Amino acid sequence: DVVDMRGLNKLGVFTYDPAFFATASCTSAITFIDGDAGLLFYRGYPIEQLAEKSDFLEVCYLLLNGELPNAAQKTEFRQIITHHTMVHDQLARFFNGFRRDAHPMAVMVGVVGALSAFYHDSLDISNPQHREISAHRLLAKVPTLAAMAYKYNVGEPFMYPKNKFSYVENFLYMMFATPADDYVPNPLLVRALERIFILHADHEQNASTSTVRLAGSSGANPFACVASGIAALWGPAHGGANEAALKMLEEIGDVSRVAEYVQGVKDKKYRLMGFGHRVYKNMDPRANVMRETCYEVLKELKLENNKLFELAMELERTALSDPYFIERKLYPNVDFYSGIVLRAIGIPTNMFTVIFALARTIGWVSQWNEMIGDSEHKIGRPRQLYRGALKRDFVPMEKR
Ligand code: ACO
Repeated sequence: DVVDMRGLNKLGVFTYDPAFFATASCTSAITFIDGDAGLLFYRGYPIEQLAEKSDFLEVCYLLLNGELPNAAQKTEFRQIITHHTMVHDQLARFFNGFRRDAHPMAVMVGVVGALSAFYHDSLDISNPQHREISAHRLLAKVPTLAAMAYKYNVGEPFMYPKNKFSYVENFLYMMFATPADDYVPNPLLVRALERIFILHADHEQNASTSTVRLAGSSGANPFACVASGIAALWGPAHGGANEAALKMLEEIGDVSRVAEYVQGVKDKKYRLMGFGHRVYKNMDPRANVMRETCYEVLKELKLENNKLFELAMELERTALSDPYFIERKLYPNVDFYSGIVLRAIGIPTNMFTVIFALARTIGWVSQWNEMIGDSEHKIGRPRQLYRGALKRDFVPMEKR
């Protein structure tokens, strides 16, 4: 009657790789990262080139379809996405169910998941056209929902999307316009946000994307899968890092306190937020673009003497010349500078991770589509090493 609960002999052989340091969960043709060299490519194109020469919708098309669009395809794609930017008015009522001070990420998990209740016409995931229209709807509607989450939070009326605007302009418009006050987006800030969106659009099998794939592997609909990705992204070790990085800079407060703060990191009292990465053991290439964008934005806004930027640069300098960080290959990641840019654009801190979710939606849905489109895919089902109690008999209440 002895049950071998901890041995592997009866269970066959499998790999024990907690946190997946060395396990590829899938094959993919979307994003390539060389973490040691600090390189990132979407569909073969270097991220720096896309950030400089492309725009977000074009990058979305590339991630979803595999190739850059030609002029006609680009125009058509823009029209399709623009066509889908509105959300059903019934969705607006969902917001009232949340506390006013709810974190917008909590609201986003709910309302993006709720989209699945509105689009029964496109939930046959075995049909490529259904998958495509779901992808378009997500890409178009998530910014609208994100802006609504913000408006609800600050108590202003929702603004309907304006289709004369570009994707990024429209998002800024829905965030910052009010019925009393029109909003004219500043082209340089639009470009900066466009870059943030491009840099965050995909990053292969990170925690949230793996979550989307795992949820999707069961055949769950894409709206529910993306909601699961938003939930996974929320954590401070992942998408919450830019919010945490900005809070950290504010807590440090002054350049004179950098050395003391770094000592606290080395004493393992806390981590340097916006630093370190599971895959990059070199400079995160997105951080370089972000630092440059940060500088441009602050210059445009005549905030060159921005205290947080100076602090961030000093922190980066100090860490990169310290053996503790060098030995552990800890470099700034994309989120080290993005918070400063978002703050300068006027985005409130509690919306930072929402912006990340908005930008990553295309990555999630492209990865989901790639997985479902592969007829060989199976439900994801990790194994475990059991280390609990061995077999024992039920103990009646009076004997416990
Ligand atoms: N500050 C200080 N030390 C760190 C940091 C950090 N940010 N990150 C890792 N370390 C140290 C660890 O203490 C550990 O040191 P030890 O060997 O002495 O114990 C070593 O580096 C390895 O750390 P791990 O936790 O094993 O690395 P892992 O790959 O699991 O973690 C992670 C990656 C979660 C991103 C981590 O670097 C971290 O917590 N960073 C801060 C949060 C952050 O910026 N997240 C954003 C990631 S990027 C993104 O989501 C877009």
